Amino acid sequence: MSKQEIPYKIYLEESEMPKSWYNVRADMKNKPAPLLNPGTLQPMKQEELQPVFCEELVKQELDDTTAYFEIPEEIRNFYKMYRPSPLVRAYCLEEKLQTPAKIYYKFEGNNTSGSHKLNSAIAQAYYAKKQGLKGVTTETGAGQWGTALSMACSYFGLDCKVYMVKVSYEQKPFRREVMRTYGASVTPSPSMDTEVGRKILEAHPGTSGSLGCAISEAVEVATKKEGYRYVLGSVLNQVLLHQSVIGLETKTALDKYGIKPDIIIGCAGGGSNLGGLIAPFMGEKLRGEADYRIIAVEPASCPSFTRGKFAYDFCDTGMVCPLAKMHTLGSGFIPAADHAGGLRYHGMSSTLSQLYHDGLMEAVSVKQTSVFEAAEQFARVEGILPAPESSHAIRVAIDEAMKCKETGEEKTIVFGLTGTGYFDMVAYEKFHNGEMRDYVPTDEELQIGFDGLPKID
Ligand SMILES: Cc1ncc(COP(=O)(O)O)c(C=O)c1O
Repeated sequence: MSKQEIPYKIYLEESEMPKSWYNVRADMKNKPAPLLNPGTLQPMKQEELQPVFCEELVKQELDDTTAYFEIPEEIRNFYKMYRPSPLVRAYCLEEKLQTPAKIYYKFEGNNTSGSHKLNSAIAQAYYAKKQGLKGVTTETGAGQWGTALSMACSYFGLDCKVYMVKVSYEQKPFRREVMRTYGASVTPSPSMDTEVGRKILEAHPGTSGSLGCAISEAVEVATKKEGYRYVLGSVLNQVLLHQSVIGLETKTALDKYGIKPDIIIGCAGGGSNLGGLIAPFMGEKLRGEADYRIIAVEPASCPSFTRGKFAYDFCDTGMVCPLAKMHTLGSGFIPAADHAGGLRYHGMSSTLSQLYHDGLMEAVSVKQTSVFEAAEQFARVEGILPAPESSHAIRVAIDEAMKCKETGEEKTIVFGLTGTGYFDMVAYEKFHNGEMRDYVPTDEELQIGFDGLPKID
């Protein structure tokens, strides 16, 4: 189609929004390995997970055969406040790069929480409320998930206790205040409030924390406090399921104009936005109906796909959670204080890990200075100030577009722009002042994390 026929922003009608989430596991021949009970090493049963997670969410977690889950009307109505999100044709970026590639991005930053995290937060808060709970506990890295969850909890009148990775808590005081505005309590992690927090602090005094530590603390509080459950913003199958709304909308928008992407790119922290964006495309690939190149982008400082092991591991540092088979750097790995806080997780969604293991998707790791170069380049022409996490996808989208410039190929590239970076200005400041450093762990440093992997065949 010519430039005139494809608008800068492809919006859908409300009536075109998905009515069901899509569960990609239903189409996977090699299912993701089950969560294991760390005591018995047997697959976790529904009744074992229910003291930690909400009932309905446990069902979604364990179901790898149902392809579609209807989105409850209350959630669909909430979605309508900020969805459908636009699929933007990056004409200005294409022009700037002088590339024949056609670049599209699905922009998830158009809500107050500023990222895609709200898509799952509202679903999880809904199921907690429906179960009659008083509140939920969670961890947050960069703060986007905590913000999204505090918004969702205030909407349903639930208490929300957030354990925020210490480095982000200190770097992003305003993010913390947004959460408190929505009524959440926010504690820097590791803290002295929990048994596991005290243990971690004793072993690593002065640590800047990690998602793995914050998860342990939030799980401990949820299981000890009556009427509370733990909710997680990424990694789990249920989160990827809710985030499939991103991919389903993207596919509908592209289909409307007869566009078939060649390359789909997303940043990967625990895998939720990427898993959501690629879901319907991966479904087609798994069913043999179409083929796409799918690329996960991770920070070089926390390279779980590209340098991790595919093994059973703990999801948290305190080793209180079930074991998941995933690409992991080891639950004892504490990554350097990279500015993309949301990508500093030692493991990866077991669904994406299996897909990667089976050669159905690729992964690359990038250094943070090159990520901020791409972020700035993008902001100057497209106007949106991207989150550091999202900018990992921008980096690789630009790299792929520049390859097209060399070869003259007119490939169609779609990437996920997961959020805005207004609370990340300290990171942008460091970049502008030339004070940003790239950190790439050595093989010896990674080995320390691998040595701590549980020995399971
Ligand atoms: C803006 C943004 N993008 C991406 C991510 C990565 O998370 P996930 O891999 O679950 O999408 C985060 C996590 O905090 C985030 O805040």
